[in-house]
Amino acid sequence: MEIREYCVEDEKDWVECRLLSFLDSTYYKDVKKEKEKYPNHSLEYLAIEDGKVVGFIDVELNSDDLTQNKENGAIIWNLGVLPSYRGKGIANSLWEKVKEELKRKSFSYCELWTQDDKPANDFYRKVGFVQKSEFTYLRCRPKEVRQTIRLSDADVNAYFAEDMLFQASYSEKEKLEKICKDVVEVRLYAIYL
Ligand SMILES: CC(C)(COP(=O)(O)OP(=O)(O)OC[C@H]1O[C@@H](n2cnc3c(N)ncnc32)[C@H](O)[C@@H]1OP(=O)(O)O)[C@@H](O)C(=O)NCCC(=O)NCCS
Repeated sequence: MEIREYCVEDEKDWVECRLLSFLDSTYYKDVKKEKEKYPNHSLEYLAIEDGKVVGFIDVELNSDDLTQNKENGAIIWNLGVLPSYRGKGIANSLWEKVKEELKRKSFSYCELWTQDDKPANDFYRKVGFVQKSEFTYLRCRPKEVRQTIRLSDADVNAYFAEDMLFQASYSEKEKLEKICKDVVEVRLYAIYL
């Protein structure tokens, strides 16, 4: 297995690898048809095995979206490995490459948002990230086509509501699980390097 930098010629392979890697996760509806571009400098690596792209990691440096340490912090925006290549240390190798590069550039902090998929949470914890529970919020998809959604701070009359994705505070979880088909926790993890 080889880890190398992403280049523009890899875009189609990146898009296909991301689609297949996220299909069995709670991100299955988050389909990207093009590779994302980041406003600040980024580290973008691919894992290559059997001559194909089997994994990827994207990290933006000094992102405006960081919750802290914007001056020497980084944020992971994308990490995935094809299902049939998992459990072989590929995500770990991608992260090790990023970590080495961050340290070389004197970055001392990294964070990421992820949802409540067990493999992703287990992975981040295993490599040393710590969850910052106070940032957890919910991403919800209602059950019904037409529905009044009543939250503590707003009433929403929603049509075609099953296509609607909305965010809510973690404290609403019990109530929302009764009226939604998906209630996903969005979690922040952080590590000091
Ligand atoms: C999360 C993901 C990237 C892990 O990739 P991977 O190459 O299988 O991970 P690794 O083999 O490097 O695993 C390293 C460690 O993470 C933990 N881990 C990874 N997957 C796990 C799983 N399914 N169950 C339990 N622990 C797991 C283990 O501790 C593992 O170490 P070990 O094998 O020595 O026990 C992969 O499952 C994936 O692509 N998931 C879908 C996309 C996604 O959710 N991305 C993250 C959101 S941005």
